[in-house]
Amino acid sequence: MISKMKIWMRDLQSGARTTTAGIPHIQEKINNLNKEMVALRKDLQKIALGTPAPQTGTAALHAPQEQPDSRKHRVVLKVDKEQWSGTAQPGELSFHRTSTFRADHEKFTAANARFFDGFGFSATQFTGKTIVDLGAGSKLRALYFTGANIIAIEPLAEKFMQEIEWCDLRKASEVYSAPAEAMIDGLAGRVDFLFSINVLDHCYDFVDCIANIYAYLKPGGTAFLAFDCHQKTDDLHPIIVNEKVASAAMFDAGFQIDKLERIASFHRGIAAYAIALYLTKPKGDQV
Ligand SMILES: C[S@@+](CC[C@H](N)C(=O)[O-])C[C@H]1O[C@@H](n2cnc3c(N)ncnc32)[C@H](O)[C@@H]1O
Repeated sequence: MISKMKIWMRDLQSGARTTTAGIPHIQEKINNLNKEMVALRKDLQKIALGTPAPQTGTAALHAPQEQPDSRKHRVVLKVDKEQWSGTAQPGELSFHRTSTFRADHEKFTAANARFFDGFGFSATQFTGKTIVDLGAGSKLRALYFTGANIIAIEPLAEKFMQEIEWCDLRKASEVYSAPAEAMIDGLAGRVDFLFSINVLDHCYDFVDCIANIYAYLKPGGTAFLAFDCHQKTDDLHPIIVNEKVASAAMFDAGFQIDKLERIASFHRGIAAYAIALYLTKPKGDQV
């Protein structure tokens, strides 16, 4: 390509010399073009060598800006709590108020059963056990697990129960209107199984959430965490985590990672995919 451009410039210049001699503004334009050509050629050589070329000249103003690598793997583990409570949570409340999926009990129950079946769970596997639905929303997914002692943690629980007629959070034996980042007194070491669906990228401190999940589980207890991975944020999704960062956080908290898989995104508008983590709190561990 570079040699083709050289030939093109040479032809242009020789043509210009014969036809434009004595026309200063055309000659000036050719000189400028020549300078841009030299800069472009340098850039192309750098690209060929694998170094990113700086954008130069007027074309740079209009060229799509390549994101540097660090942006492609952007991570946001923590945001301002006031931003979360002042912007994200009011957004969540209005989302749930108008959720037709949750308002239709039959539809929701069938879809929820397909969801857990699809991830290899069975409705009776936690009968007689204590389970937590973390970030439960306005409609209890935990009711899939028949005969389980259900604990719901949901920061908008009180509002959902007051304001949404079809909200069934009262069916849980304990409901905590608190965020996942707040340590709930008396819950440490009590839980056999904790799940959280489409929540952890909505929170304000990812690492604190994981630490509390770990603390709530009994040694040998398990967790299933599924959440979107995205590269941009919006008001309702302030946290950005990818597989690598999520696994490191689980590992640092003390978890054994039994399985990690990419799954379909919960919100196609923001995330191309989600991840699901199957975790165990090792038995030898102290609460
Ligand atoms: C998209 S909804 C999912 C609800 C439910 N898990 C479901 O699958 O239907 C996200 C939920 O996460 C809750 N949430 C947001 N921030 C949270 C936090 N810091 N701790 C716990 N839950 C949170 C929201 O209030 C909302 O109910």
